[in-house]
Amino acid sequence: MEPLLRLKNLDMYFKSNDGLFAKKANRVGAVVDVSFELGAGQIMALVGESGCGKTTIGKIIAGLWKPTGGTIEYNGKDINKMSRKELEVFRREVQMVHQDSYAALNPARTIFNSLKDPMIKHGMAKNKEEAYEKLTELFVLVGLTPAEQFMEKYPHQLSGGQRQRVLLARALSVKPKLIVADEPVSMVDVSLRISLLDLMSKMNKEFGISFIYITHDLATARYIVNNGKIGVMYLGKLVETGALKTVLDNPRHPYLQALISAIPVPDLKISRQKRQLPLKSLEMPNPANPPEGCRFNPRCIYAEGICEKQEPQLQKVGEDLVACHCEKSVPKWIY
Ligand SMILES: Nc1ncnc2c1ncn2[C@@H]1O[C@H](COP(=O)(O)OP(=O)(O)OP(=O)(O)O)[C@@H](O)[C@H]1O
Ligand SMILES: [Mg+2]
Repeated sequence: MEPLLRLKNLDMYFKSNDGLFAKKANRVGAVVDVSFELGAGQIMALVGESGCGKTTIGKIIAGLWKPTGGTIEYNGKDINKMSRKELEVFRREVQMVHQDSYAALNPARTIFNSLKDPMIKHGMAKNKEEAYEKLTELFVLVGLTPAEQFMEKYPHQLSGGQRQRVLLARALSVKPKLIVADEPVSMVDVSLRISLLDLMSKMNKEFGISFIYITHDLATARYIVNNGKIGVMYLGKLVETGALKTVLDNPRHPYLQALISAIPVPDLKISRQKRQLPLKSLEMPNPANPPEGCRFNPRCIYAEGICEKQEPQLQKVGEDLVACHCEKSVPKWIY
């Protein structure tokens, strides 16, 4: 069966600050040769440090940015070759909850005025009154109560967490099949965070909505994804991917091991016993000038000669895919 989404050799290069005359080497490879699939009804977490390309991939999947290379297929169809009608369906079915919630809402319009239009345009409500009724239900669902108070507010009158919930309600309002949720709870209070993650999980289980859950936080990824997938990114590249459970139970890429070892543990005793993976350097290389060979090699304690020369490709290791020359010599991770 066709997967819902298929990314093939996706590239996104931006001009670096040097402007128009930037040398090829000075382009920023925000996303480099990324391929993966997502089945209908599946959740995938996309994780990695700041600047590794998560938002860029999200915007490309949602059809907001055109990649500089590679293709994206939705239900087996290249989104750049869709007819107007097919594109209209795609634009409704694939929704994005933006990381920058302020920029994602028109500052001059009230929340209700911003949210009613897509509902009416896509035939989810016959008129303003019906849109109001349906949005009220959604606002209650995402914890924006009393709903009528939020409807008449302008984006700047809401907190970042409230705007993130407005965006989630907007995404849900057009009955999507796939939601690209870019750090959707990063600004929401901890007390409400779990209930929003649970809401997304419920939308997934009850309505079969697929999610790409973008985060730098492995704990929430583990919480929401359950039986889904994970993709770990480093400097624009996918370095490890597979079923979340097998990948996190047995992380093989030294970068993923380092990410896991950096998660704080509240219990001091356990924390002292916890294995730390030392990095050679804490600094992320400049994406405009990535290291030769494996992008992680200057920070990796396991790096060998080949890692400085040759870029590793994703290879099947057990059930998962890992891009590491030294995968066999990296010790098994013990929690
Ligand atoms: N419009 C743009 N023009 C030029 N460079 C960009 C643009 N958008 C992103 N970049 C660069 O691309 C790289 C990836 O950025 P992106 O926003 O996708 O990272 P991210 O993983 O979402 O980070 P964060 O966790 O901080 O949100 C960064 O080096 C960034 O500076
Ligand atoms: Mg981002």
